[in-house]
Amino acid sequence: MKIGFIGAGNVTRTFGRHLLGAGHTIVVSNSRGPETLSQFVADLGKDAIAGTKQEAADCDIVILATRWVNVADALSGIDWHGRILVDATNAHVDPIPDISLAGVTKSRAALKDRTSSEIVAEKAVGARLVKSISNMPMDWIQDFTPNKPRTVIFTSGDDAEAKQQVIELINSTGLVAVDLGSLSKGGAMHEVGAPLSGLELHFVRRLR
Ligand SMILES: NC(=O)c1ccc[n+]([C@@H]2O[C@H](COP(=O)([O-])OP(=O)(O)OC[C@H]3O[C@@H](n4cnc5c(N)ncnc54)[C@H](OP(=O)(O)O)[C@@H]3O)[C@@H](O)[C@H]2O)c1
Repeated sequence: MKIGFIGAGNVTRTFGRHLLGAGHTIVVSNSRGPETLSQFVADLGKDAIAGTKQEAADCDIVILATRWVNVADALSGIDWHGRILVDATNAHVDPIPDISLAGVTKSRAALKDRTSSEIVAEKAVGARLVKSISNMPMDWIQDFTPNKPRTVIFTSGDDAEAKQQVIELINSTGLVAVDLGSLSKGGAMHEVGAPLSGLELHFVRRLR
C-alpha cells in the first residue's frame, strides 16, 4: 500500500520504517515542502518519497503525525471526504509535550469532554478517522527486525471498514493492532493520560 504522512518527525521516522520493512511505500510531507525532506527520506530508503501535503493525503491511508499545536494547520487545505486518516497525535497543550501529571490534566481540561480524535475528526471534515500509533513513545518500537516484539498498538474509530484497513496495515508490520471501539469510548481509553496510554504490552499468545 501507499501510505502518506503529514509530519516528518519521530513518529514518521519510526512507523515509516516499520511500514517500509513490510513492503509498503510512504510519502512524507511537512509544512516546508518536499525539498526540505530529501535527507529524511534518503535515510529511510528507496520506497520513502518526499511529497507535498496533498500528495501525502492522496495515498491509500494518511497518517497525521504533527504536534497538537500544528494539527489545525496541518489538516487545512485538503478535502478530507472519504480519505482514511489515522490520528497519531496526542493532545499536549504545550508545543513541547508536557507529559507530567499536571500537563496531562491541563490537556484534558482543554478538550472539554471530547476525545482528542473527535476534535481532529471535526477539523478533518468527512475523513474516515482512526486513532492509532499514539499510545506509546516511539522509543519502545525501535526494533525493526523480523523478530521484533509483537507490540500492541491500540486503535479506535467509528468507521468499521476504515478501522479494519488500519488494523491490517499495522498487523502487516509485525506490530499488533487491538481494537478498542469507537472514537469516543475507545479513544478515551488510549489517548494521552488515559488508562491504556503509555502501557508497554506485547502479544505472546492469544486463546480464543
Ligand atoms: N514521539 C513519540 O514518541 C510519539 C509517540 C506517540 C505519539 N506522538 C504524537 O505524534 C505527534 C508527532 O510527534 P513527533 O514526535 O513525531 O513530533 P516531531 O518530531 O516534532 O515532528 C512533527 C512534524 O510535524 C511537522 N509539521 C509541523 N507543522 C506542520 C504542518 N502544518 N503541516 C505538516 N507538517 C507539519 C514538523 O515539520 P515542519 O515543522 O518542518 O513542518 C515535523 O516534521 C505528536 O502529536 C505526538 O504527541 C509522539
